[in-house]
Amino acid sequence: MPGQTGPGLTNPGPTADEAIGALLSPAGAELLAAAAAAYAAGDELRAGERLRTAGHRPELIAAAFSQAELRARAAAKFRRADDMLFTRDGLEQASSEHVARHRAARFTGRGRLADLCTGIGGDLLALAAGHSVLAVDRDPVHLRIALHNASAYLDAGPRPVGLVADVRDVDLDGIDGVFVDPARRGGGRRLPTGACEPPLGWCFGLVEAVPAVAVKAAPGLARTAVPPGWETAFVADRRELRESVLYAPALATARRRATVLSGWPDAPRADELTGPGDDAVGAPVPRVGPPGAFLYDPSPAVTRAGLVGDLARQLDAWQIDPLIAFLTSDDLRPTPFARPLRIGWSGPFEVRELARRLAAEGVTALDLRRRGLAGDVEAIRRRLLPARGRRSAPGGGPGRTAVVVMTRVLDRPWAFICFEPASGP
Ligand SMILES: C[S@@+](CC[C@H](N)C(=O)[O-])C[C@H]1O[C@@H](n2cnc3c(N)ncnc32)[C@H](O)[C@@H]1O
Repeated sequence: MPGQTGPGLTNPGPTADEAIGALLSPAGAELLAAAAAAYAAGDELRAGERLRTAGHRPELIAAAFSQAELRARAAAKFRRADDMLFTRDGLEQASSEHVARHRAARFTGRGRLADLCTGIGGDLLALAAGHSVLAVDRDPVHLRIALHNASAYLDAGPRPVGLVADVRDVDLDGIDGVFVDPARRGGGRRLPTGACEPPLGWCFGLVEAVPAVAVKAAPGLARTAVPPGWETAFVADRRELRESVLYAPALATARRRATVLSGWPDAPRADELTGPGDDAVGAPVPRVGPPGAFLYDPSPAVTRAGLVGDLARQLDAWQIDPLIAFLTSDDLRPTPFARPLRIGWSGPFEVRELARRLAAEGVTALDLRRRGLAGDVEAIRRRLLPARGRRSAPGGGPGRTAVVVMTRVLDRPWAFICFEPASGP
């Protein structure tokens, strides 16, 4: 097997690998701690001088400062970021801890897993929590970092085994489940949607060796790229669409899934909506009708999964237009799958009328949403809220914030002035 490595192995190679090795030594740990303290205090220049005077190599000091910066950024993804190491590209592409743990649960009950294209180990740390794992990446720096990062999370149990190799050359004998996260960046650039390394077609073909396969893909992936029988899950972190995951038939439990994660890190939670998707025969077709008292803006995970009809049924809501994914109803039903808004005013879209209504409502700040209508949002914003309007409400009182939605209702250009459901009248 080419280049087996383990968490403690030193195998000096290119400069980056050497730097990571040095940072993993006790002297490196001291350097990292000093860099973290200086970074937090904004005192990098003087700290750098002190560390050079103390005899540390300049390139290691630079590497330690770079880690301090990356760790600070990584705190949004990882609870133990301060014990982890990163590369810039690796952090950017890494799954966050919450997403990875949620996804790893799909492999419960499977034995030995392979984490192909391990990167800096965002997924590895979750997969290795319940399984023995073969971690494969052709980038030795990434693999070394991944094994270190996984050990920051693993208190007991088998340590993952690392293999520096092209994933296409790996023997998957004895593996019961495969997770693959192909690279969507190359040469410092994002690849076009649908393109990745190794290509999706190769990833799908893994089922010939191991039936239980999950593939991470871009959230914008065309639904037609997914083979029949596979599940497509779209994952949003609160309202931010993060990724799609494709589960082979042996792991699939639905055709489409919208997963909305929230509450991380203190109370992590995953809400899931499943269904056949709006392109399936017999999928629920939502009713269409005039706006009620509330407008629901579905999570992008729900719209990408084609589950707006299922959500409408769950909320007893209807669509304001057959082609627009806003739902409406007369009842407020809090849901993780949509942002509910109270409709303050609704009428045909006309900028002057809308500006007059906003002034009458005492609105001084706008969250402007446009869906299904053309137009320059910033130009419209300036016309809706001239500079004087932004400063104070009529009578000098505190202003209100409104969500203005420009869209279509029953195919007519339409505008809504909305407020958070809990805000005043
Ligand atoms: C998207 S990252 C993986 C991120 C990882 N799941 C995480 O959460 O940290 C993709 C990784 O694939 C590796 N890679 C790309 N093509 C490969 C190939 N043919 N064989 C092995 N590794 C490959 C890259 O070196 C990179 O580290």
